[in-house]
Amino acid sequence: MNAERRRILLVDDEAVVLDSCLAILEGSGHEVAFASSGETGLDMARGWQPDLVFVDLKMPGISGLEVLDALRELDPTSVSIVFTGFATIASAVEAMQHGAYDFLAKPFTPDEFRSMVRRGLTQRELLVERAALLRERETLRENFAAIVSHELRSPLAAVQQNLFVVMAELDGSIGDAQQERLRRMSARIGDLLVLVNRWLRSFSIDISHMREGFRPVAISGPISAAIESAQAEAVRKAVAIAGDVDPGAVVAGDEGALTEAVLNVIGNAVKYSREGGRVVVSAMRRDGTVEISVADSGVGIPTADLPWIFDAFYRGQAGASGASGAGIGLALTRRIVEAHGGHITASSDPGQGSVFVIELPAFDAPVPGPGAAPPEQVSKGASG
Ligand SMILES: Nc1ncnc2c1ncn2[C@@H]1O[C@H](COP(=O)(O)OP(=O)(O)OP(=O)(O)O)[C@@H](O)[C@H]1O
Ligand SMILES: [Mg+2]
Repeated sequence: MNAERRRILLVDDEAVVLDSCLAILEGSGHEVAFASSGETGLDMARGWQPDLVFVDLKMPGISGLEVLDALRELDPTSVSIVFTGFATIASAVEAMQHGAYDFLAKPFTPDEFRSMVRRGLTQRELLVERAALLRERETLRENFAAIVSHELRSPLAAVQQNLFVVMAELDGSIGDAQQERLRRMSARIGDLLVLVNRWLRSFSIDISHMREGFRPVAISGPISAAIESAQAEAVRKAVAIAGDVDPGAVVAGDEGALTEAVLNVIGNAVKYSREGGRVVVSAMRRDGTVEISVADSGVGIPTADLPWIFDAFYRGQAGASGASGAGIGLALTRRIVEAHGGHITASSDPGQGSVFVIELPAFDAPVPGPGAAPPEQVSKGASG
């Protein structure tokens, strides 16, 4: 027996089915309501917020599948189970694709129905718990970032400040070796501060405020800036960066953050390329989205690493085998891309290269002013 009182909604146009379900549920301790059409069922679900809904697939008016879609939209944690009159596998599969948790073929015995109710309610509990955990994780993440910023960044900045003062005071009165040691201390603390700041941004603090300042941005601007920043390292490794960018591709966003997001991906493409490799950056409009792709012919990403590379501090095989970094770049990029309502995916042919694709919603208004110049078509590294 369920200790808790739950709400169960039955939607079926056959009175005999409703009657028998009501009879079976009598004394179960649950609140039960019923509707004999999809329209009334949905109206009731809106106001009443049931935990579990049984839906007949075949009803006059709106179909069971439409009801399932609408229910899922209303509350993604509510659980729907379909009644199928003709127990065809195909219709059950289709119902599952529309979000049904399970199906019950008519006619069913009271025990079959009771057991389905129990399964459905257990699933509902799991979904509600999962949603609560996700919310809690998000809060923890934000609190954690706030703590890190106070407890780590502030003292580091203070140490750095004091070091500058001591270095200035001791200038001329200590030997070169001691000077060098102080300089190295200061440089390492500087690196740590940069790391903490990047890490903090990957935890969303600044990003949540970023949206307020969104403006139309021609994506060619951030891409040119990112290619330019990556150029020094590309030249050092004789890696050629080619760009093919639609000047009309515009998104609503924060230009600085977008540059950072793209730079992390292009920077990786160069970093994980072999000497003399090639990186191709392209951006184009495609059905309401702007698609930016960065392809390299570098070391590639092992399949086992792929699901984790967007997590903070995950470095994977390529990262662990010598290249410098902290494993933050892609976490930060994903955070920025998602703050812009987009998403990023990666695919790779290990040993052959990788492709990163960023999709952002296109901004449809015309760009104000002359717009950013498209990037150079091809900027070739030294001694190619
Ligand atoms: N283009 C790429 N080719 C091969 N491996 C890649 C590529 N981009 C990312 N990776 C893998 O994904 C991991 C995570 O990338 P990410 O940019 O987050 O961190 P990082 O480059 O190691 O360090 P950071 O960006 O903080 O300097 C890398 O360590 C590497 O293993
Ligand atoms: Mg990186």
